[in-house]
Amino acid sequence: MASDPNLHLLTHPLIQQRLTIARDRNTGVEAFRRQVSLIARLMVYELTRDYPTVDVEVQTPVGACRGKKLAVNLTLVPILRAGLGMAEGILELIPEARVGHLGLYRNEQTLEPVTYYNKLPPDIAETDVIVIDPMLATGGSLSTAVDYVARVGARRIKILCLVASPEGIAVVRRDHPTMPIYTAAVDECLNERGYIVPGLGDAGDRLFGTA
Ligand code: PRP
Ligand code: URA
Repeated sequence: MASDPNLHLLTHPLIQQRLTIARDRNTGVEAFRRQVSLIARLMVYELTRDYPTVDVEVQTPVGACRGKKLAVNLTLVPILRAGLGMAEGILELIPEARVGHLGLYRNEQTLEPVTYYNKLPPDIAETDVIVIDPMLATGGSLSTAVDYVARVGARRIKILCLVASPEGIAVVRRDHPTMPIYTAAVDECLNERGYIVPGLGDAGDRLFGTA
């Protein structure tokens, strides 16, 4: 992992403080949702650091001013359900981003991802894409989601998650050797049910109160 230049572990204290609250089993639905949204916002601030800008001129009340705007259009691709909790926070920071949705759930026996929805913007290939899911566990869901996005021509893709397992990172690396991955934590391992240990539990259930 230390030798993977495209794995970005975001250790900012504000991110880590919020992640710790989210991990706490005593954090309820409302507070959990709030933490996930805030963490995603903080993380995307780092993820977009290398996005290009162009100069623009605006008139302030006092005079002309050379400013900047993003030179790229952005597509967020949250994996349903849990990715929605992160996308919502990011949209507060980048409201002009468009959103493509991928519906995937893990078969509880095989742990393989099952696709039930796919709605990506038609011009996604001309945009920078962030594929979003709080949990990179076996890696099946995020790797499959990136496949869908790459298959329709997108080339500039980054992965954003909250908690990753070493096993999941290895799967994404097998399938997408140089894809940038941004995570707030790399945890110990997966348990026998494919959950990240210590992780934060079932992210979708905790976000939507369905446990
Ligand atoms: C969770 C999570 C990821 C997936 C991660 O979703 O949000 O999408 O599991 O696991 P993986 O890396 O092993 O594929 P889940 O399947 O529980 O669906 P949900 O969000 O609808 O609850
Ligand atoms: N999905 C989750 O929500 N949590 C895990 O730990 C693994 C998969």
